[in-house]
Amino acid sequence: MAKKTSLKSKAVIVFVVTVLLILGALIASLGKLRDQVLRNEAQAVADQVVSFRSWVAGTGMVWVNKLHPDFNGYLAVKNVSETDRFYGKNPALATRELSTIANKTSTRASFTVTSDNVRQSANAPDPFEKQALKAFQANKGLKFIEQHEGESFRYARPIFIKKGCLKCHGKPEDAPAAVIEKYGNVKAFNYKVGDVRGIISVTLPTISFMEALPTLANPLSIGAIFLAFLLNYLFTTKLIINRLQKLTKDTKAIVSGQLNTPLNYTPPSDSNDEVDHTYHSVDLLKRSMLMVMKKMKRK
Ligand code: HEC
Repeated sequence: MAKKTSLKSKAVIVFVVTVLLILGALIASLGKLRDQVLRNEAQAVADQVVSFRSWVAGTGMVWVNKLHPDFNGYLAVKNVSETDRFYGKNPALATRELSTIANKTSTRASFTVTSDNVRQSANAPDPFEKQALKAFQANKGLKFIEQHEGESFRYARPIFIKKGCLKCHGKPEDAPAAVIEKYGNVKAFNYKVGDVRGIISVTLPTISFMEALPTLANPLSIGAIFLAFLLNYLFTTKLIINRLQKLTKDTKAIVSGQLNTPLNYTPPSDSNDEVDHTYHSVDLLKRSMLMVMKKMKRK
């Protein structure tokens, strides 16, 4: 049979396993924290889109005096004079133009507003967005969908049809002439209040494990782990193993006849330390040995 492992080796094994378990827990938490950070960022972007849309919706349309070559879409025209005209942009159109700018200039977040029944082909959904649309249609209570996709983090939030949307997304015959003229009478019509009209889709660069790692490898965490290691080491070696080794040595000396070997320990009346109690038992044994020997000498 193999020899039993020393307490020292056992303590090392227990310590290493403990460290690995704690590291595992930290890494798992790091993954959760990363998802939460990305989700918060995506939510903030989606909130901005919602605010922008409702700002435009609140005024009905935003009217611009000039069309930028890259952003030349409009739904209505108002002639102020022969040469001076204003172009009206409805919320969806204004949002699409904002998204075009954001996607071109921002280094992190990009967003689109898309649907499974797009009126504007430039808004067509990609596979993740199609999947999100299906999920929101199947479950109206679902607040958002998220997914890691290669280097990207994808997030989507549903947009529902409200009463005010029916003018342009309800029956085609109710729609403003400009809508029919520009987009026809087929695309994105016949919705009812409460239907999922589309989604706000946000894409962010994901945070890789290597990028998140410095969060763990900071002086505070490393210091705490080092201190834990030191405490464990001092406790098991100084307070248990070294004292047990000393006790073994002292006991062996007593057994070999050196009965005056001093036993250094705190008496049980003043100590709850188990090693002190073991020392005390050996001490009792030593004293009874001495008594037996004295009796034998007298005889
Ligand atoms: C004044 C008419 C009008 C109203 C009212 C309106 N929409 Fe639209 N909607 C449009 C037009 C026009 C487009 C296409 C815009 C473009 O060219 O990008 C569109 C596009 C969209 C899109 C993008 C997907 C696609 O089909 O291209 C969504 C999502 C959308 N609308 C949701 C809504 C919601 C929700 C409401 C109510 C809160 C609403 N719309 C009210 C006219 C309207």
